Amino acid sequence: MRTPLVAGNWKMNKTVAEARDLVTTMSPRLNEIAGVEKVLCPPYLALMAVASMLADTDLGLGAQDMHWEEKGAFTGEVAPNMVKEFCRYVIIGHSERRAYFGETDETVNRKVAAALKYGLTPIVCVGETLDQYESGLTAEVVRRQINGGLAGIDSANAPKIVVAYEPVWAIGTGKASSGENANTVHQKVLRRALSELFGADGADAIRILYGGSVTASNAAEFFAYPDIDGALVGGASLKPDEFVAITKAALR
Ligand code: PGA
Repeated sequence: MRTPLVAGNWKMNKTVAEARDLVTTMSPRLNEIAGVEKVLCPPYLALMAVASMLADTDLGLGAQDMHWEEKGAFTGEVAPNMVKEFCRYVIIGHSERRAYFGETDETVNRKVAAALKYGLTPIVCVGETLDQYESGLTAEVVRRQINGGLAGIDSANAPKIVVAYEPVWAIGTGKASSGENANTVHQKVLRRALSELFGADGADAIRILYGGSVTASNAAEFFAYPDIDGALVGGASLKPDEFVAITKAALR
């Protein structure tokens, strides 16, 4: 059985001082929730401070992105071994990175390979835009993102991969997908594509999260489906009551 995972993507929010305040409020409450893997993904600059606050908890820490090279002339970038000093997880291929910062399936693929090489758990994001959704292209788009993003990855690494299905039209819009729609994509498209890449056992081991306007009020609707293994939460992860309630709802 897959352990549910709930990750908070703070995006470009919180100074170090603000991050400390948020973690002080949230982490004892999250830490009480056994049976769910809990991950906080603050901005890079807050990782060190938050890492030391989480040291005696079972909360995991993740970065929101990283470069695939270990070092070199890549001004402004952060390397996998630098992330690994503080984090166990890294979000890769978020739609905001794809839309605003030139992320492609090919760069996602390099980053996933680098994450695995450094023992990080990649949370690989896929999802279609509103246009693609309305044109009935969801399956084709997310299949292409999975095949491109995970090309050449050894099936022995499958259990270390987490996938997040985040329809772009649902992110930050307050218009979440229905649980039924998300589950259909998870089960009929993503799990199948993963099984073609990694075999049935590999695909079975991979957690597939839903993301896009998840809140305390709609979380249970998603987690009721067996193929929705948790959530990648943006806006609501900055609100302690919301994020704690979402995490509790993920318990199986
Ligand atoms: P949201 O963002 O929960 O604010 O819609 C989700 C995400 O971008 O991961």
